[in-house]
Amino acid sequence: MPTLLFPGLHRVLSVEPGANLLEVCEAAHLPIEAACGGFATCNSCRVRVLSGQLGPADEVELPMLDRPDQRLACQVQVWHDAALALDPG
Ligand code: FES
Repeated sequence: MPTLLFPGLHRVLSVEPGANLLEVCEAAHLPIEAACGGFATCNSCRVRVLSGQLGPADEVELPMLDRPDQRLACQVQVWHDAALALDPG
């Protein structure tokens, strides 16, 4: 099972492979917003990848990102270990 580290929050989560990152964060009561409800239109769920791999962003997500280390949690499936910050940086 992939492990997600949130160093700034002192949290470590083991997640089901392929789990949606936003749903994982919400289930763990991490401080993340999702103003559009997960439809990739609000940018409020943006997270920063500190290390590890979350896979490539697709054509829906990519235009919403300012930098390559940012991702929209609502569009990410977790398949590998990663360290994340919930602020977009
Ligand atoms: S919840 Fe709005 S972009 Fe992810």
